[in-house]
Amino acid sequence: MEFNKINVSILNLIREAIGADNVFTDEESFQRYGHDETEDLKFFPEVVVKPADTASISALMKICNEHHVPVTPRGGGTGLSGAALPVFGGVLLSMERFKALIEIDIDNLQATVEPGVITEEFINAVAEKGLLYPVDPSSKGSCFIGGNVAHGSGGPRVVKYGTIREYILNLEVVLPTGEVIWTGANTLKYASGYNLTQLMIGSEGTLGVVTKIVTKLIPKPQQSVVMLGSFTENEKACAAVSAIFRAGITPSALEFMERKGVEWVIKFDDIKFDLKNDVNAFLMIEFDGDDLDNIFKDCEKVNMVLEEFGCIDVLFADTAQQKEELWRMRRTMAESVKSNSVYKEEDTVVPRAALPKLINGIKEIGSKYGFESVCYGHAGDGNLHVNIIKAGMSDQDWKDKLKDGIVEIFELTTQLGGTISGEHGIGLVQKEFMPIKYSEVSLNLMRGIKKVFDPNGIMNPGKIF
Ligand code: LAC
Ligand code: ZN
Repeated sequence: MEFNKINVSILNLIREAIGADNVFTDEESFQRYGHDETEDLKFFPEVVVKPADTASISALMKICNEHHVPVTPRGGGTGLSGAALPVFGGVLLSMERFKALIEIDIDNLQATVEPGVITEEFINAVAEKGLLYPVDPSSKGSCFIGGNVAHGSGGPRVVKYGTIREYILNLEVVLPTGEVIWTGANTLKYASGYNLTQLMIGSEGTLGVVTKIVTKLIPKPQQSVVMLGSFTENEKACAAVSAIFRAGITPSALEFMERKGVEWVIKFDDIKFDLKNDVNAFLMIEFDGDDLDNIFKDCEKVNMVLEEFGCIDVLFADTAQQKEELWRMRRTMAESVKSNSVYKEEDTVVPRAALPKLINGIKEIGSKYGFESVCYGHAGDGNLHVNIIKAGMSDQDWKDKLKDGIVEIFELTTQLGGTISGEHGIGLVQKEFMPIKYSEVSLNLMRGIKKVFDPNGIMNPGKIF
């Protein structure tokens, strides 16, 4: 890809178009916006911009398109696949000033928000009106709703409520050429041409810049209970997962945690938890609804399923504090693992009944290549986050052998009917693995779509394929 560097005259054009106050070229900004949460990767932009309205982004895109300058949009910077890294320098477009919660339309159960709204703030704002926006990734306290759209984000409640894909009705988008479109309609159904809304979701900032988001909302369930089942073996815990659904229950979350993950959270986050010696895996299961009696009936049924799969202990949490503690343990797992060791994150996903084969396969591949792994994640969706730990592996092996191990993991997920990312996206660090799952024909279709939206290839270049 051939791009131009940002010279003084391009910089002045940008300053004029979006206001000099919104343009930053200081070292501190380069440092701050040169990384996200992906490993220890760093790439520095040539300029950081923080416009606050659609018209400014349109003007910016026109300049960058004309001058062949790459633009990397960025939300909260919590991504794990490097999609927000400005790998070719150019403009880093921070959406942090798009902070307005424009409307909560109670009559239609919809909201219109700007992409820089922090996900948890949005969840809380609609909750005050008795409504639920159920897309709550672990990073909800700092990620932006715009970043969630860009990644097709999930989180623990997907198992009952679906990913962000089920909640986005319509998007305002600035195209790489500077034109502004709405992708769809503010309606629950849509049979009028290609679905551009769904195409934008998960496109990781490679097709345009989302500037307004219309979401669906649902009534907020009033009650919830969390159960934590302990198992002696990963495989047994994983095998119980599909049986829970076969018993006719759809929990509002069904999370798997391996012992090592829990050990590290206890250390990292000072969580009080009595971790018994014979326990090696957990299923954390949440049920929600309005009727506590019905919830307890579901808990009973699930309890029987867990017993069939050799569950050795079940803990019930029904006070707000107990539930909060268990969720904190689960939600800080990613950070805890990161703080403990050099690691590499993979985001495997398979049909849920294949989970036992997936977890056993990951451990076998680990033994073959000499790495340890800590697995946890959204078992109800068949989505396991695999944190590969450097631990005792030599620097040389980490450099030379790790990639072969990752290829084997993705060959396994593909064989099992899954794919190479459930929710963290492809971005920069997974793109070399795309051909394991997608044929050249499929990848060329994706490249063709990209070209239609972005003829000069300036929009978040170097990502996905
Ligand atoms: C989680 C993030 C890492 O599930 O996706 O905690
Ligand atoms: Zn996750």
